[in-house]
Amino acid sequence: MKLVHIEPHARLDAHELVAVLVEEGSKPDAGKELAVRDFAWKGFQGEFREVRSADAAHQRVLAVGLGKLASLDAERVRRLGALVAQKAEAAGAKSAALLVPRAVVERLGAHGAGTALAEGALLGGYRFEKRKSKSKPAKLETLALVAPKDLGPGIERGKVLAAACAFTRDLQNDPANLLTPKDLAAAAKGLAKAGRITCAIHDERALKRLGMGLLLGVAAGSKQPPRLVHLHYKPKGKSKGRIALVGKGLTFDSGGISIKPSAKMDEMRFDMSGAAAVLGAFHALRSLDVPYEVHGLVGATENMPSGNATKPGDIHTAMNGTTVEVLNTDAEGRLVLADLLCYAGAKVKPDVVVDLATLTGAVVVALGHELAGMFASTSELEAELRAAGDATGERLWPLPLLDVHKEAMKGVFADLKNISGGDLGAGSSAGAAFLAPFVPSGAAWAHLDIAGVAWGGSSRDWVGGALGSGFGARLLVEWLTSR
Ligand code: BES
Ligand code: MN
Ligand code: ZN
Repeated sequence: MKLVHIEPHARLDAHELVAVLVEEGSKPDAGKELAVRDFAWKGFQGEFREVRSADAAHQRVLAVGLGKLASLDAERVRRLGALVAQKAEAAGAKSAALLVPRAVVERLGAHGAGTALAEGALLGGYRFEKRKSKSKPAKLETLALVAPKDLGPGIERGKVLAAACAFTRDLQNDPANLLTPKDLAAAAKGLAKAGRITCAIHDERALKRLGMGLLLGVAAGSKQPPRLVHLHYKPKGKSKGRIALVGKGLTFDSGGISIKPSAKMDEMRFDMSGAAAVLGAFHALRSLDVPYEVHGLVGATENMPSGNATKPGDIHTAMNGTTVEVLNTDAEGRLVLADLLCYAGAKVKPDVVVDLATLTGAVVVALGHELAGMFASTSELEAELRAAGDATGERLWPLPLLDVHKEAMKGVFADLKNISGGDLGAGSSAGAAFLAPFVPSGAAWAHLDIAGVAWGGSSRDWVGGALGSGFGARLLVEWLTSR
């Protein structure tokens, strides 16, 4: 689906479907030329997401409820955009127009309204068809936003954000046999062809030379060789600081020797969602001006059982010399992230590090599918990220990291162990506690546990259900551009 912007008073006869957004308590009105008999709207309340369609002389009019104006925010507007795109597709329209009401612009501002509508419509139109032998092309070819000229820049931004999210989702949705660590690295490399981005890929030999024993220990059981991706974005002018975005890139997590149960194991294709979000952010960075030097670090590997695999109790050595007892091979994400954090400290020396990882099942229990868990080392960073989360609808909730959690990760046979002993509970905090000693010294750090939000949950117009959500890419871009 192609999204276009046309100005009010443009002719609409080329559009088979015209959507109007209706405030709660008022009647749908698409203008004289699209008059529909009153009876068609009987009982229509304008409640948020309420839909009703009626036929005008030559076109279909789709009324969608805005709900109460006081409750209207960017996330609601995104959802309405998605709903219109999906209803237009379901109606079989080749071309549709959405009349943007003044109320939406007044409430969100021209930029905010443009961004949210474009984002929502494009996110709602997302499809994953490329792995079907007879993939069905979308029927809806064009969606036109009918809105004043000053929505233009916002619409353009919405397109950039939605494309970044779709890039992330495409990577998530591919299964592990079609998206191997090498493939993930190749996708990153592809991003370096445009903008001010370069990309270095470190293969297995390079990882050995770097001394990344934890990442290699996770990869040991797999036939697929691991990769370390290092993306680098340079700002146009003087840099306001160095930021490292770190992503867990398990293209498949079987659990290894501590193997997972078979139910839903296929979902562990999504265990590279943190990495996909980082790559998604770089997708957007190709066309945005961000005044920071941004590094994207991704550890890509599979976690598999085999005769070569790491065994419970094995001791591996991190890039910074720390030794780790691997008591549960399924707690592999923290091992990969630990080496990435060492690499960040040695090669990037960042002022701020944000890592994203589908790290613990426990965060799904704690926060479900609506909120990601956030562990932030400073209240400033926590507030910045939380604001970006609220702005994008990719929301974060702070979780605690206490000394008892860190204490529980001390090893018996080595410096650290990768799972806590005893009855600590707080599985997500334990994961964060394992990472803490590897954070580059002097850097502010946030760890985002996205295990609950990267996929799953009930449908929210464009996310939910079987597909990956793309969580994180839009959040990171919002944070980078509003900082
Ligand atoms: N990738 C999983 C976390 C996960 C589980 C994400 C379910 C989404 C849904 C991670 O590598 C893992 O297996 N974590 C273990 C840690 C445990 C062994 C300490 C977990 O959460 O069970
Ligand atoms: Mn695991
Ligand atoms: Zn995992």
